[in-house]
Amino acid sequence: MGKHTSGSKMTAKMCGVALLFFSLLVLSGKFLPPTCYFQFSSFFFQLISLSLTLTDAIATRKIGVNYGRLGNNLPSAYQSIEILRSMRAGSVKLYDANPEILTLLARTNIHVSIMVTNDEIISIAANQTTANKWVEDNVLRYYPDTMIRTILVGNEVLSSSSDAAKQIWNHLVPAMRRIKISLRAQDIRNVKIGTPLAMDALQTTFPPSNGTFRPDISTSVMVPLLNFLNSSKSYFFIDVYPYFPWSADPINISLNFALLQSNIKYTDPGTGLVYTNLLDQMLDSVVFAMTKLGYPNVRLSIAETGWPNAGDFEEAGANIKNAATYNRNLVRKMAGSNPTGTPARPGALIPTFIFALYDENRKTGPGTERHWGLLHPNGTSMYQIDLTGKRASSDYEPLPPAHNNAPYKGKLWCIAAPGVNLTELERALTFACNQGNGTCDSLTPGKECYEPLSVAWHASYAFSSYWAKFRSQGANCYFNGLAQQTNRNPSELHDFK
Ligand SMILES: *[C@@H]1O[C@H](CO)[C@@H](O)[C@H](O)[C@H]1NC(C)=O
Ligand SMILES: *[C@@H]1O[C@H](CO)[C@@H](O)[C@H](O)[C@H]1NC(C)=O
Ligand SMILES: *[C@@H]1O[C@H](CO)[C@@H](O)[C@H](O)[C@H]1NC(C)=O
Ligand SMILES: *[C@@H]1O[C@H](CO)[C@@H](O)[C@H](O)[C@H]1NC(C)=O
Ligand SMILES: *[C@@H]1O[C@H](CO)[C@@H](O)[C@H](O)[C@H]1NC(C)=O
Ligand SMILES: *[C@@H]1O[C@H](CO)[C@@H](O)[C@H](O)[C@H]1NC(C)=O
Ligand SMILES: *[C@@H]1O[C@H](CO)[C@@H](O)[C@H](O)[C@H]1NC(C)=O
Repeated sequence: MGKHTSGSKMTAKMCGVALLFFSLLVLSGKFLPPTCYFQFSSFFFQLISLSLTLTDAIATRKIGVNYGRLGNNLPSAYQSIEILRSMRAGSVKLYDANPEILTLLARTNIHVSIMVTNDEIISIAANQTTANKWVEDNVLRYYPDTMIRTILVGNEVLSSSSDAAKQIWNHLVPAMRRIKISLRAQDIRNVKIGTPLAMDALQTTFPPSNGTFRPDISTSVMVPLLNFLNSSKSYFFIDVYPYFPWSADPINISLNFALLQSNIKYTDPGTGLVYTNLLDQMLDSVVFAMTKLGYPNVRLSIAETGWPNAGDFEEAGANIKNAATYNRNLVRKMAGSNPTGTPARPGALIPTFIFALYDENRKTGPGTERHWGLLHPNGTSMYQIDLTGKRASSDYEPLPPAHNNAPYKGKLWCIAAPGVNLTELERALTFACNQGNGTCDSLTPGKECYEPLSVAWHASYAFSSYWAKFRSQGANCYFNGLAQQTNRNPSELHDFK
């Protein structure tokens, strides 16, 4: 979760549009504009939430792609499947069992991973009839024409520990067992069942030999889960993003080590195994955590991995150059002619799904969340990538240089995005001001930031103030797309009329 150095107070020169208006009077020497204390946030490093999303495929060397659809500007399902074919994706992972997509995937040669959503788990776990119905509706209707090869039960179920989420924890493995029974009753034997987890299922990941699952889930969930995966010869599906540990500690972790292209050799003191990249370290920490619970042989599948192609100002390293570098190196490692495996499992084949097909503009959270795409929302590529892993790095066109690999040290403000719906902006303004702690004190009549009386100006002040106060608790500058970051002091911008 986020750990940030939080914003302090800063004297802005003046209050917004008032600057222009007052300047005439200032020139005539009559009076000075009021001073508005506009807060900023400044970050030197940050830990980013480990939570993203997930999943899988069956033993194939071909790279899979996560087809997330949290965008309101994405190509149609038909176009998306054409795109996946033209990219030569070996498999596609869905976050549900969308009927249109599953129908369109019939006879495509693309392997498919479908998902039982988190809120379906408890009822499936409780009742075999419900499980059978789910399999009937979401598998039998399309199988075998649609090459469904994996059913993932839930998405990062163990990453949330709200009371409601914890209810699901104990039903996870029972739901998987019920789906298994339903498949067996239909004599379907080439579909694996798993559940994608995030790295936050682990308590320790470093050194890799010290990998251990969290104590709160170890006995109650992980042991039955591993037992199920082991006996059904399925995979441990893991969402693994070297970007997150690197961005949390870019001082101690070399960027190239995270991008799968360093000359560094790290020897694990516990095992003597030698690591040349962060991804192998993370994967092996899972291997050792499983081994500690008595399941050393459950295979791994990378349900999600990737690198953001853009992000907020303070999200260092999120750029096209790094994203292309990581994903190209990943593909060569995972889909190349000889799988390299990891130091603990040399030569092992690890079915891998890149996250994600598109940038998704409807995801909340920091800017990187909306920028994991191999493709722009209009379907054009973000950068060249050969998913078969055969293309040499020298055969790609040069990438735009990376300008944000070092931590951002400047000031930042959070302002109303241009051209947004004013009714919604007003609602967001009210929300921000209602969070308390004096967020909007300076906006009351007579106070220094009251003028100019415009929704855009007041919202910009309120967003910045709210963000500076609550950032350390995980608040983002987003407000459903109504807000955006700027490194220019809003009091000096003149577009708030
Ligand atoms: C399971 O669900 C079916 C269909 O909804 C229902 O008829 C049946 O009573 C349920 N069984 C149990 C044990 O709750
Ligand atoms: C591994 O974990 C143990 C127990 O948590 C700890 O005592 C030990 O120092 C760790 N080893 C290393 C090399 O960090
Ligand atoms: C895991 O599966 C293998 C092969 O089926 C079996 O021999 C082994 O006993 C299982 N391990 C555990 C801990 O159940
Ligand atoms: C880097 O590692 C050192 C020692 O291992 C530690 O004290 C320091 O906090 C780390 N830096 C960051 C930014 O985490
Ligand atoms: C697709 O979107 C990108 C990013 O917005 C843009 O640069 C590109 O020109 C667009 N391409 C087409 C064909 O519309
Ligand atoms: C602005 O948002 C409101 C509330 O969501 C909606 O009712 C209204 O139609 C929107 N106005 C425009 C111009 O889109
Ligand atoms: C908000 O105010 C309360 C009460 O004064 C204080 O405990 C809390 O830490 C403040 N929160 C922030 C984010 O400033």
